[in-house]
Amino acid sequence: MKRELLTYIGILVLIIGSIFYTTKNNVVKDIIIEEENVDIIYPYFNEEALDMALEEYIQETLSKCEKKDKLFIDYDYTMDKENIEVSLYQTMIQESNIVREYEEVFSYDKLGKNITTTRSVNASVEYDPFHNRNIDTTKKMVALTFDDGPNYNTKKVIDILNKYQVHATFFVLGENVSYYKNIIKYMQESGMDIGNHTYHHKELTKYKKEVIVEEVTKTNDAIYEVTGSYPHFLRPSYGSVNKKVKETVNMPIVIWNLDTLDWKYHNSTYIVKKIINNVDDGDIILMHSIYSATVNAVDKAIEKLQDLDYEIVSVEELFYYKGISAENGKVYSRAKSS
Ligand code: NI
Repeated sequence: MKRELLTYIGILVLIIGSIFYTTKNNVVKDIIIEEENVDIIYPYFNEEALDMALEEYIQETLSKCEKKDKLFIDYDYTMDKENIEVSLYQTMIQESNIVREYEEVFSYDKLGKNITTTRSVNASVEYDPFHNRNIDTTKKMVALTFDDGPNYNTKKVIDILNKYQVHATFFVLGENVSYYKNIIKYMQESGMDIGNHTYHHKELTKYKKEVIVEEVTKTNDAIYEVTGSYPHFLRPSYGSVNKKVKETVNMPIVIWNLDTLDWKYHNSTYIVKKIINNVDDGDIILMHSIYSATVNAVDKAIEKLQDLDYEIVSVEELFYYKGISAENGKVYSRAKSS
């Protein structure tokens, strides 16, 4: 009798212990949001600061989700005595194309009640930014890229691209984004690809990692603030890249293989010649959206490139059609035709 009782007590202790252990080391419950276009599951830990941060992130994301988009969020986490690390994986689908993938990581220190968040963007998701663009994939392709904007000339460049119904990539400076937010919106509405050109046009190779991170992150956030989307590519100012920059930035790095020298000569005839005499399939051409000579050159250059049977595309489109999945920390100067 006594032995049996001891066994029962032993089992009971084990059960209670395991329940206690489970609630200590697991998610307390899942919070689920299911709507027509939304499918979200995220954890509740009964840790006030962390739960609030997760809730805020979900609400902010939901407020930016339009009816036509499909939004999916789920999670993974690790937990020990001191820390909880939660990753929320966000996927956005538009017209059956995955257009966005983020991983938002919340690192929570239980004792200090302190949260840090980091975000990584998967730039190589299958992406259809083209919205009814009719690209002939048998043609040669060239990507036009415009740095250092936006400024007052940038709108004129977009006008010309729209006139020819072509797309380009604008590598913008974070410090100009909020002042010229209407131009950024116009870029986005026109289907242009918006990239990161650092916040203050700093030569990243000359700075420590913290500054590099700040220059890149602040610019991404400024663009997101206006467009609701993060840029896919980084073009470091001056095209300056080294090992430290590659290891630090969490984005694919896009430079160029054809420099029009528009910043040097301010001569539209020279710029057009430079393009037409040197262009080849898969090229990435460097210009700046801030000079009047460039505005004039773009109009003539596009006409001539189309006469030469080129499709004019953004970097995003170029990589998509050439089958390149851009990887974070890698440097691309052109799309090799394979
Ligand atoms: Ni620049």
